[in-house]
Amino acid sequence: MSIRLGDIAPDFEQDSSEGRIRFHEWLGDNWGVLFSHPADFTPVCTTELGFTAKLKDEFAKRNVKAIALSVDPVDSHIKWIDDINETQNTRVNFPILADADRKVSELYDLIHPNANDTLTVRSLFVIDPNKKVRLTITYPASTGRNFHEILRVIDSLQLTDNHKVATPANWQDGDEVVIVPSLKDEEEIKQRFPKGYRAVKPYLRLTPQPNR
Ligand code: BEZ
Repeated sequence: MSIRLGDIAPDFEQDSSEGRIRFHEWLGDNWGVLFSHPADFTPVCTTELGFTAKLKDEFAKRNVKAIALSVDPVDSHIKWIDDINETQNTRVNFPILADADRKVSELYDLIHPNANDTLTVRSLFVIDPNKKVRLTITYPASTGRNFHEILRVIDSLQLTDNHKVATPANWQDGDEVVIVPSLKDEEEIKQRFPKGYRAVKPYLRLTPQPNR
């Protein structure tokens, strides 16, 4: 069954390039990014995992742990990691799940038979510290993901969880945000947004990012 926003991310136990992982225990109180890729020793996946490794500090700043997955076995992952490190000029610093028995792939609906019978698609899940799924995306095998966009969504989620705002199209950290339409009380608005706001329409109220 497919996983929907707000669902609890299914727990599992599986082998990885860093040993056996009990997923919820491994996540602890952190946010998580679980992402699948079609196969080891493939060009686009090599760039994706290398780029994710380079974002280590950005993930750490946001309390995010990354974990990758394909249906290849551990020994393949270990050999491939050497190639990623060499060609992408980095060190893979997160585990790659070895889902040879497709246990996690089935739990997370990562094999889409009409795209490919055996390989996992490029799906990605952002999971919050309550283990709730907050973002799902699925890309085709031929298109590498934009991991800056993943960070942008995490920034938005972490901001909007704590303030009564939402983030507009193409928002970047530090830009104006919108006041949620359900917030109508002017006194509360003044308290929450002391820098003021501008109402382009009664339902479109822009304010400086409140945690800046
Ligand atoms: C890749 O990662 O380069 C790739 C994997 C499967 C199909 C096409 C490209």
